[in-house]
Amino acid sequence: MKIGNVDIKGYASLAPMAGVADRAMREICEKYGAAYAVGELTSAKALTLGDKKSTMFLERGNLKVFANQLFGGEPQTMAEAAKIAESFGPDFIDLNMGCPAPKVANNGGGSSLLRDPVLVGKIVRAVKDAAKVPVTVKIRIGWDKDSINAVEIAKIIEASGADAITVHGRTRAQMYAPPVDIASIKAVKDAVSIPVIANGDVVDGISAKKMYEETGCDFVMVGRGAMGMPWVFDKINAYMERGEILPDPPLEKRLEIMMEQLHLMEKYKSQRTVLLESRKHVAWYLKGVRNAAKLRRLCGEIDSLSDIEIICEKALESGEDI
Ligand SMILES: Cc1cc2nc3c(=O)[nH]c(=O)nc-3n(C[C@H](O)[C@H](O)[C@H](O)COP(=O)(O)O)c2cc1C
Repeated sequence: MKIGNVDIKGYASLAPMAGVADRAMREICEKYGAAYAVGELTSAKALTLGDKKSTMFLERGNLKVFANQLFGGEPQTMAEAAKIAESFGPDFIDLNMGCPAPKVANNGGGSSLLRDPVLVGKIVRAVKDAAKVPVTVKIRIGWDKDSINAVEIAKIIEASGADAITVHGRTRAQMYAPPVDIASIKAVKDAVSIPVIANGDVVDGISAKKMYEETGCDFVMVGRGAMGMPWVFDKINAYMERGEILPDPPLEKRLEIMMEQLHLMEKYKSQRTVLLESRKHVAWYLKGVRNAAKLRRLCGEIDSLSDIEIICEKALESGEDI
């Protein structure tokens, strides 16, 4: 797939996930086969007001292919923010038009834009005029089940100059509940000629292939399926390339990858933040371990990453829950 002039190899990308897919997770996912990663959503308004914390979200680190994601509801602010983001060297800029969080949607950004197609067009056009790098847009299929308008929105996004569109096959009202609306993603693919990246419940090679086959999409994007499982991308690549179903790595290797991610996190974040945030990642990595609940409780008491090494030893003693 090509996004503007950017060549994208492989089969799946890491979804933007605020508070989860941070620089460390993005780098680990790339190492295990993610074709590109999109950074955590970043407030266009905060960027234009010079907020230092927001610029932290823009750092690409060592990633080969990386996009910054911006949210906001004012074309001019989004255009100015795109120029700031561009100075951090992303391969492309993604605009969030799907986030259901009240903090975003109640301020005219994210999924609330799905109810204002004219404004969608103005935002995409303003950012395209301002940015030198390609521009993509990530949407949900509509506000709720009575107002599914992904095709209308996608056509406007394409006509306003966007280089690709990512469709999360759920409505805003659905949040993360099943099912993913495959037909709506396919309808978008049939309606536009820019690349369509399909997103929603892809968790392994089989679900990725199904998404490709049933929607005709150009690429797939994985969110929650990569939590505590960055090797999901290797699994997808192996299945798509040669129909091979790779097993999950053995527990010891999984814990080693977890520690690798946490040590990367230590490089990029304060010790306090690492301790707070590592708990959820450890909990995800412990999936499938016998006595996982007990081990997860221990995570509440950790004071340093060496405490997590002890939890790893206990996990290895417990073994896998098969
Ligand atoms: C914790 C969390 C944070 C998220 N943050 C963002 C975000 O910053 N920007 C965005 O466009 N989508 C965000 N999403 C949505 C995901 O990118 C993705 O569209 C959604 O999880 C569906 O894909 P999945 O079924 O593979 O998880 C977030 C999802 C989760 C679970």
